[in-house]
Amino acid sequence: FYRAAASPPSSNFLLLGPSGAGKTAFTTLLESKSSLGPKKSTSTHTSQTSTLITVTLPPTVPTASNRYRSVNDPSLKEASKNPVKYRLRDTPGHGKLRASQGIAELQAMATSTDTKTKLRGVIFMVDTAALVDEATLRDTATYLHDVLLVLQKRALGKGKSSTKRAAEIPVLVAANKQDLFTALPPGSVREKLEAEIDRIRKSKTKGLMDASMDSAELDAEDDDVLGDDDAQSVFSFTLLEQVGIKVDVTGGAVKGDQQEEFGSGVRRWEEWVGMCL
Ligand code: GTP
Ligand code: MG
Repeated sequence: FYRAAASPPSSNFLLLGPSGAGKTAFTTLLESKSSLGPKKSTSTHTSQTSTLITVTLPPTVPTASNRYRSVNDPSLKEASKNPVKYRLRDTPGHGKLRASQGIAELQAMATSTDTKTKLRGVIFMVDTAALVDEATLRDTATYLHDVLLVLQKRALGKGKSSTKRAAEIPVLVAANKQDLFTALPPGSVREKLEAEIDRIRKSKTKGLMDASMDSAELDAEDDDVLGDDDAQSVFSFTLLEQVGIKVDVTGGAVKGDQQEEFGSGVRRWEEWVGMCL
């Protein structure tokens, strides 16, 4: 039942989300926390390419395989000598780069049978101070909708064909920038995203019906509806649990003078990663 202290090299996580959410800032922070060397400058700029980094999970963060162990368990001491590592891929969030990078990366990793590139989880980062803006909310929700649709297709597709069900890929919505006083709390981030995804999925369903009335050829890639087939119901992330996709919305802050005060900095996100390992 207990796995070896060192995690397998197959622990890959994908970092997605719109431009400016703080993905590269988060990646840089994790990288500097993982290395003993001098802290690198944490200034970032809009990314145009993906980067892959190896991160060390802080030894105080529990993992799914050691959470039942007592603190006196000698194997825990062993674990701190042999820290758990995982890999994180930072992607550019710019709208024009999503299809070719974030979504393409997700599709490749989610369907990969190679254990080296197997995907353990998706972190979708959002700027919680920017969501009050209608256009930003729309853009963010559209991206998240597309990400969840890829995962839903994967979950449904595998169930049909193979005997073994595809291992679920959980999603963490990292509600970043909780240090800003204009930030929305994680609960309302969740509500806003769910309501906006609901709108997106309803207009998609309507578009599909119009298209079939025109007897226009349906794009086979695009005929799926996220969540319940019954688009009358209101979308919520819990709907996706039916197909095995778990979505958590958790607050935090990469920056800020007293990060710990604001949703414990990045600690809760590290705990989420730990529970996937
Ligand atoms: P793209 O590469 O364009 O997809 O954006 P990104 O998600 O990588 O954003 P990036 O990490 O470059 O961060 C954008 C800006 O947000 C930077 O100026 C960061 O310093 C800032 N930022 C990131 N996290 C936080 C946070 O928790 N609080 C505050 N106040 N600012 C943050
Ligand atoms: Mg970036």
